[in-house]
Amino acid sequence: MKRLLSLSALLLLVCCSAPKSDMDRFIDDLMSRMTLDQKIGQLNLHSAPGFVSAERVTEEDENTKMLRAGLMGGVYGSGNFDVLKRSQEIALESGAGIPLIFGMDVIHGYETVFPIPLAMSTSWDMEKIEKAARIAAGEASAVGINWVFSPMVDICRDARWGRIAESAGEDPYLGGEVAKAYVYGYQGHDDVFDTDEVMACVKHYALYGAAEGGRDYNSVFLSRQEAMNGYMIPYREAAKAGAGSYMSSFNEFEGIPATMNKWLMDDVLRKMWGFDGFIVSDATAVVEEVAHGIGDLQEVSARSLQAGLDMDMNSDGFVGTLKKSLEEGRIKEADIDRACCRILEAKYKLGLFDDPFRYLDEGRRAERVFTPENRAFARELAGECQVLLKNDGVLPLKPGTRVAVVGPLADNASAMMGTWAMSSRRDETVTVRKGLEERTRTLYSEGSWIFKDKDLEESVRYGLMRMFMRNFQASDVHSVPQEAMIADAVNKARLSDVVIACVGELSEMNGEGSSRSDVTITDAQRELLRALKATGKPVVLVLFTGRPLVLVDEDRDMDAILNVMALGTEGGRAVADVLFGDVNPSGKLTSSYPRSVGQLPLYYNHKNTGRPHGEYDSYRKFVSCYMDEVNGPLYPFGYGLSYTTYDYSAPRLSASEMPLNGSVDVTVTVSNTGTRDGDEIVQLYIHDIYATSTRPVKELRAFRKVHIPAGDSAEVNFTLTADDLKYYNHDLEYVCEPGDFEIMVGPNSRDVQTVLLTVK
Ligand code: NOJ
Repeated sequence: MKRLLSLSALLLLVCCSAPKSDMDRFIDDLMSRMTLDQKIGQLNLHSAPGFVSAERVTEEDENTKMLRAGLMGGVYGSGNFDVLKRSQEIALESGAGIPLIFGMDVIHGYETVFPIPLAMSTSWDMEKIEKAARIAAGEASAVGINWVFSPMVDICRDARWGRIAESAGEDPYLGGEVAKAYVYGYQGHDDVFDTDEVMACVKHYALYGAAEGGRDYNSVFLSRQEAMNGYMIPYREAAKAGAGSYMSSFNEFEGIPATMNKWLMDDVLRKMWGFDGFIVSDATAVVEEVAHGIGDLQEVSARSLQAGLDMDMNSDGFVGTLKKSLEEGRIKEADIDRACCRILEAKYKLGLFDDPFRYLDEGRRAERVFTPENRAFARELAGECQVLLKNDGVLPLKPGTRVAVVGPLADNASAMMGTWAMSSRRDETVTVRKGLEERTRTLYSEGSWIFKDKDLEESVRYGLMRMFMRNFQASDVHSVPQEAMIADAVNKARLSDVVIACVGELSEMNGEGSSRSDVTITDAQRELLRALKATGKPVVLVLFTGRPLVLVDEDRDMDAILNVMALGTEGGRAVADVLFGDVNPSGKLTSSYPRSVGQLPLYYNHKNTGRPHGEYDSYRKFVSCYMDEVNGPLYPFGYGLSYTTYDYSAPRLSASEMPLNGSVDVTVTVSNTGTRDGDEIVQLYIHDIYATSTRPVKELRAFRKVHIPAGDSAEVNFTLTADDLKYYNHDLEYVCEPGDFEIMVGPNSRDVQTVLLTVK
């Protein structure tokens, strides 16, 4: 005890005597001059006054009034240069004159829109993902934005959850790599923010993707250990990469909403992982804690602050109640100071105290936004984000092929943009129809409705408009009978050599608030596919989606399936590049594709159970399986075809034993046995055979994307250390437990070859 005391006394001494940085001194001084109201004001985030146009920034506007009163630390949601500039001027004229931080949902690009995050992850190309984030940062910062609500790093194992579209899929390791790539892309690799770099906001902290039943905002029921091993890794990796801020999530965990969950925010994120930035709530997440059943707005605001939340987005909980809570002794001024200080630090790091207008430089807009270079990169990246799920030989198409491009998504810009493309240039988006028209003879037909249910169709096409514009009536939904549309498509198919059928999900069918209980292609579109098949022409399904879909019928009936999800601005050209073979598809799935909704949740890195059953074995009683469906997916995690073929040797180890402090090399020879050059994503999985806690049957721990010319081979090498074999044990210690590990290498999570490694 005595020894402990003297140790902590020493620590205190070291801490107290540690020299203060310039930033600390600046903020101490600033805070000493701020009133309590001004400090609380810093903890408040709202949408920008006027929101979309500077003319609407009037003194009567409620947000302008708050800004004038110094009651806002930042604004979000506007990419309008003039609105942001005016807002900054008002903030500087008000009370403490502290500059605002400008946030925005820049999720997969800004005006140049890249593939949706789920599609982007299928490239497994960290350099390109980082570059996409860098371009997005360059474009967004050129209009004044300095804080982006990205990356979204929630792991998701349930295709019913619409927000899987915004994520990197189901795997924690890949999710962690992707998280780092985004953070580096937005913020750069050092601590200094240049004017074309922005602060990342990692979301949604935490475990939002584990919503029960895939229903958005739903409760999460996980053990801490499962959370740490299965879901928390990407949040951890983003912290390691230096992410400046986090956004708390809507869900509860262990009976406490994440937005007031001290274990998540303080114990894990700050203390265990050393995160020292600020945490903002998701929009209205503080006031939603009232509905969660925790207390009134004052109570939930006080508890959220004390649990480690620093900024309240849109609830007016902090700005409206913290002063009262302080007066009543419910919270301490130090709680407010701590949060305020973290927000001021972020502004300091962004250089806003040196120059509040440093991101507001009109000249950069024309130079940086939606440039030909950015668009060219969008096309290149989109080429890597397509997953060929089936091909009986119809692809690639030969030059001169006459194409019927058919389907309700074939010429739909918003389907190509995907979820979260608020700042996109819809009119300049290249649809598949346009992309194909640019290179071959085409006939186009819309082909079908999306849903037979008119209300549902209206809701996915115009739901948001209906929400914001009362009495909004869409005139075009189902205005042409389905039979007539199909007849037109069939006619055009008959006149062509091949049918390119663009069906699947419109962007509003995934993303936030878009959970589905039936993850299939919709009824009306399936009717179209059946009619097209009946023509006898080869049918290539170009699949738009923001989630894994059940594609059992399509896998049986279609001649080829190219999964394009939503590829952004240049999507249509990138699809044409792949269909005509200029680009050899190399994308691989980052989520398992189910055979039926009843299999959900479905993920490759599941546990074995005490009564395991082979993935594709048929029903047997008293083992862990379904009577009416095999356990395995239709397409496994990591799966994707190309126009060439690869052969994998068995993996070889440099030594069959590895000391805990040593390393071992795993080598595999991958041969391109086809006639086209290709890029192959080689995947390494581990299985800890016996551990003090049960471990998944397989866990991805490394991958490489290698270019292999036709007829050539590549030696692919991975170096493993104990770090690659670690997991959080029952006491949440991150450990490698000595013993035997299966090391598996292959082209996807199913078709692997195994070698045994003993760790001593
Ligand atoms: C709610 C969403 O959950 C979050 O992802 C987004 O960043 C905020 N709204 C702000 O728009």
